[in-house]
Amino acid sequence: MDKLVIEGGMPLEGEVRISGAKNATLPLMASTLLAAGTHVIENAPRLRDIRTMRNLLGHMGASCEHNDVLVIDTSDIHTLEAPYDLVKTMRASVLVLGPMVARYRRARVSLPGGCAIGARPINLHLKGLEQMGVDIDLEHGYVIARAGRLKGACISFDLVTVTGTENLMMAATLAEGITVLKNAAREPEVVALAEYLCSMGARIEGAGTSEITIEGVKDLSPGRVSVIPDRIEAGTYLVAAGITGGHLKLTSCRPDHLEAVINKLHMAGLPIEAGEGTLEVQRTDRIRSVNVKTWPFPAFPTDMQAQFMALMALSDGVSLITEQIFENRFMHVLELKRLGADIELEGRSAVVRGVRKLSGAPVMATDLRASASLVLGGLAAHGITEISRIYHLDRGYEAMEKKLSAVGARIWREGNGA
Ligand code: EPZ
Repeated sequence: MDKLVIEGGMPLEGEVRISGAKNATLPLMASTLLAAGTHVIENAPRLRDIRTMRNLLGHMGASCEHNDVLVIDTSDIHTLEAPYDLVKTMRASVLVLGPMVARYRRARVSLPGGCAIGARPINLHLKGLEQMGVDIDLEHGYVIARAGRLKGACISFDLVTVTGTENLMMAATLAEGITVLKNAAREPEVVALAEYLCSMGARIEGAGTSEITIEGVKDLSPGRVSVIPDRIEAGTYLVAAGITGGHLKLTSCRPDHLEAVINKLHMAGLPIEAGEGTLEVQRTDRIRSVNVKTWPFPAFPTDMQAQFMALMALSDGVSLITEQIFENRFMHVLELKRLGADIELEGRSAVVRGVRKLSGAPVMATDLRASASLVLGGLAAHGITEISRIYHLDRGYEAMEKKLSAVGARIWREGNGA
C-alpha cells in the first residue's frame, strides 16, 4: 500500500489551484439518472470517489468518460442496483437511490454500513421517500424500493442531512405535485445541485435556505454544468500555509463558501485576504489558540475539524474543539499525539494544548480528513513523517503531494500505487 513521506519544516510559498469539489461532483453525477442522455460535467476532480461513482453508474448501464470533462450518458440504464462492494467503499453511492426510484420506480441499493467517523445511518433518506409514496423494505443488507409515480410531500428533517437533502430534492423533481423540505441542508453543494437540476428543467426554490420547495415535472433533459471549487480543499491549504509559517495564494476558489473557516483562522492570527476567486494567506506571528464547534453550513464545517486541530496543536494556548456532527470523528487525535501534540479527549470535545514543536513519526490515516490533518502535522513537524493507508487521502484530495511539492514541501509517495 502507498505511503506519503514528508520531511517537515519547510514554509510553503506560491500558488495553489483549487480543484472541483468532491461533495458537489458526486450528487451531480447521481442526478444524471434523472434524465436519459448525455450530461457534461466540467471541472470534475480526479479522485478515487469520482472513479467509484463512475464504476457504479457504469454498473447500472451508463457510459462515463473522464477526459477534459466528465461525460455521462444515461440513455441505456439497465440495472437498478447499487451493489454492496461499491457502496461499502463510498457511502455517497446512496445518492443514486432518490433519482433511481423517481425515474425508474424501483431500486435495490446496499445499506452503506458504518464508517470510521460514525454510524452514518440513512433513516432520514428512507423516511422521506416513504412520505413520497415509496415502499421501502430492508432485506439482506439492501434497501428494496418500489413506487408508482412519487407524490409530493412535506418532509421535515429531524437532523440537517446533506445527502439526505440532496437525495430527496432529486426524487422530488419528478414527483407529482409539490414537495417541501424543512430543516434542509444549506451547503453550497446543495445549491449547486439545485442549480443544475433547474437547468435540466426542474422547478426548485429556496436552495441554500433551510426550506426548499420543489414542484415536480414530468421529465427532465440532460445538461452541462461546471463543478464549484472544493471549499474543504481550500480550507486545508489555508491551514497548510499557517502551520508551516508560509505564504500561499489559492486560485479558482470561492471565499464566500469559507466564511466561518476564514473567520476562525483570522481569530487564530492568520491574515487572509479574499480576492476575485482567490484567497491569500501569509503567517506573520505565532498561531493563537481558538475554540471551535462544528455545525452545518454556514457554521464551521465538520470536514475542517481535523485540519484545524492540527493547527491548534502548535498554538500559543489551549483550544477546545467540539465535534457536534459525527460521534467518532477524533480518530486523528491519537495519530497527532504520535507527532507530539498534547490533546485530551473529553466526550465530544478535544482539549488541545499548544506545543512549541511537533516531531516527525510514522502515523496511520484512518479516514479522509484525518489523513489531511496528518499531512498538515507532518509538514510542520521536525524530521520525517510517514503516513500509511493514504488511499483515504486519495478519495478527496486531487494530487495533494504534487500541489504541495510545487509550493516547496518536501513530500513524496512511496509504494506500488495501491
Ligand atoms: C455529507 O455526508 C458529506 N459527504 C460529508 O463529507 C460531510 O462530513 C457531511 O455531509 C456533513 O457535512 C458528501 O456530501 C458526499 P449528513 P452525509 O447526512 O450527507 C446524521 C467528507 O469528508 N444522519 O449531513 O452522509 C449523521 O449520522 C465527507 O468529504 C442521520 O442520523 O452527512 C450525522 O450525524 C465525510 N440519519 C448527521 O446526520 C440520516 O438519514 C449529518 O450527516 C442521515 C444523517
